[in-house]
Parts: sequence; C-alpha cells; structure tokens
Amino acid sequence: MIGPVRDAEPRKAILRRWLSVALIREIRQGVQWVGAIDWDRRLFDALIPLPKGTSYNSYIVSGSEKTALIDAVDATKADVLLGNLEALGTRKIDYIVSQHAEQDHSGTIKGLLDAYPEAKVLASGRCLELLQEFSLATLDRVREVKDGEKISLGDKTLQFIHAPWVHWPDTIFTYLPEEKVLFTCDFLGSHLATSDLYATDEATVYESAKRYYAEIMMPFRQNIKRHLVRISDLKIDVIAPSHGPLYDRPQFILDAYRDWSSDDVKNEVVIPYVSMHGATRIMVDYLVDALIARGVAVKRFDLTAYDSGELAEALVDAATVVIGTPTILAGAHPLALYASILANALRPKTRFASVIGSFGWGGKMVEQIAAALSGLKLKLLEPVVAKGHPKEADFRALDRLADEILAAHREMKIA
Ligand code: FEO
Repeated sequence: MIGPVRDAEPRKAILRRWLSVALIREIRQGVQWVGAIDWDRRLFDALIPLPKGTSYNSYIVSGSEKTALIDAVDATKADVLLGNLEALGTRKIDYIVSQHAEQDHSGTIKGLLDAYPEAKVLASGRCLELLQEFSLATLDRVREVKDGEKISLGDKTLQFIHAPWVHWPDTIFTYLPEEKVLFTCDFLGSHLATSDLYATDEATVYESAKRYYAEIMMPFRQNIKRHLVRISDLKIDVIAPSHGPLYDRPQFILDAYRDWSSDDVKNEVVIPYVSMHGATRIMVDYLVDALIARGVAVKRFDLTAYDSGELAEALVDAATVVIGTPTILAGAHPLALYASILANALRPKTRFASVIGSFGWGGKMVEQIAAALSGLKLKLLEPVVAKGHPKEADFRALDRLADEILAAHREMKIA
C-alpha cells in the first residue's frame, strides 16, 4: 500500500515507498506522457459524475539543455507521477509548467518542488496567485510567463498562449513548435480513462469530450470560440490535453468544438421532469409523442434517476427545454428546480423554454422555474399546468405547445 506524498518528503524516500508499475508513453522524441489514469474516480468537484473515470495527463519535454514538466497530477496520484519520472530517469527538472491551478493538475506541485529542488514553476500571473493561495508554491520558486513568451530548452522551445476562462481565469496553452504539439490542459479534454494514448475510438471520445465540454466549457462559450480562432494559425500534429486521450487527428476535436460552441441549435427538445403521483409523467409522455409526431427530436430525463452529465450534454445542441414538475410545498419540485438551476449555470444556447406539470390547490411553480432559468436568453412558451390529473383541455394545450415549438423551430429553419 502506498501512502500520500508528504510535503517535505525527499524524492528518494518517496521512491522507497514506490511499488507501482511505471507507465511512460512516447509522443515524440523527447516528449513523454508520464501522467496517471484514474480508472476508479466517479465524482469530480463533488458535483460532476465520472462514469468512465478520468486521467491526469502530465508530460515531460526534454530539450538538449533543459527539461520541463507540463502540468502535474491530482494529489491522490502523486506516487504514480513520481514513479514514472524516476523510471524515465528524470534526475533534474528545470521548469514545471502549471497551465492551470485547479488541484487535479497542480495538487502534486509542492511535492515535485521538494523532489526536484532546481525546478521553478512557470505559469500565468493569475495561476501563480492561485498556487500561492492554495499553498502549492512559494514566491521564490515561481516565474510568470507572458502571453506569447518563449522559453528555450535548447533544441526545443515552449511557447505560451494565454487562454483565460476555459474555465478558470488562469489557463495557458503551451505550444512546442519543433514537434507541432499543442498542450491545452482542460481545453479539448475528456473525462475518460482508457488504455488508448490517442483518440482511436472516436465515437466514444466524442461522447466523453462533448459531455466534458458541456459540464466545464459551455458557460464560457464565447471565450472558447476566441481560443479556437487564436490557435487556428498554429501547425498542430498532436493536441495533448490534460484529461483523456490525445488527438493525433486534431481536426476531429477542433471541428467538434467549433460545432458545439457555434450559435447553431438543433431541432431538439430536452425534457427534464419529475412526477410524484403520475400526472406530470402522463403529460410528459403525451408531449413527447406529440413532438415526435411533428418530427422534433426529444431527449427526456427522469430527474429521480438520471445522470446530470447526460443532461448537460443534451443541452449543448437543443433549441428548446421543457421542465416537467408537480407542485409541492406551494412550488416546483426541488429536483426540477435543481435541474433548472444547473441549466441556468451551464449557459446553453437554448432559445425556448416552457413548463408543464400539475397542481392540487395552487402554487408558484411556473414563476419559480422561470426565475431559476432567468440567466438564459430564453423565450418562454406558454406553460401547460393541469389541476390534478390532465384532462382533455390539458391534452389540447399540450398539442398547442408542441405546435408552438415546431413553429419556433421552423422559424429558425432547423425543422
Ligand atoms: Fe482539470 Fe480545471 O481542472
């Protein structure tokens, strides 16, 4: 059993405890993956489900004169990173490039600075501030790098590109022009534990990367578009993110990101719903069928048993969202409110919204859902609220809602 790395523990002491098998993977001559695959992690930020685990990609770039490590790993995998570095024969690290201060990439930096006393941390000013706030690096061991700045490793060069707000204010990308490798940290990554170094199973990677985009990047869509333009002039053979597989066919993920971050929406309706005694479920069933009959695609989510990552992913493209909720404690069901708050925070490009559901003797569920979604620039289509179980007039109202959704989609020329 291997314990966590203690702050001031010297490298040799750490290595005496190191029992795991090293995994080093060559990307280019002098460029190696030395990160950690986290097959078993199932939750990130105490919020985001990780059904397929994740990886923390860390890279060694060895020049003729100097050596740099690009991003570290989560603190729980410190022994794996240090073991990989030792197995690679890394006696000296000159630079630790911290592309982003979130702890899944920076949690090991303090241990690395202890193990490699010559190393300095290179990062954006914002990142360095955060690393100090997190007690991961001290002023004497850091150096700020500016946007466009280049650092020579001898026969290799690191060029830094500031890319704030993907999803923190601190992020930089690192370009290695001699090998045409772009290191992008979270950007273009995926929470996917896989034995594939590269995205060879593109269908699986597409789903994981889209889900990751929805959960992490979507609220910053306008910045994402700017960063895509910013890197469009670079000659890139390999994109090396810090989560999930790398891309040796960069166009695959760049095209996907352009599509997801574009202003285009699809002829789709997302319906997150919860039903206590069946009335709301009957209304959802009816509306789903009415939309399908009109040629509108539907993704429905029973909020008592759903994966919030799948809901986030569905919101990437959908033109419309309809929240289904009963009335409880004079308002919307808390699960429906939570889904609405989540959708509001993720800032999808959804254009239309509505609410359907039932009540017994009054309440403010429509107002609550509308308030929870108020951060989105949505047009609210007239809700359908039944008293008790839905009756003939309620079904006609659901037909009217389906017609309105189809008309709105047609006006946008997506249906
Ligand atoms: Fe993978 Fe924002 O950290």
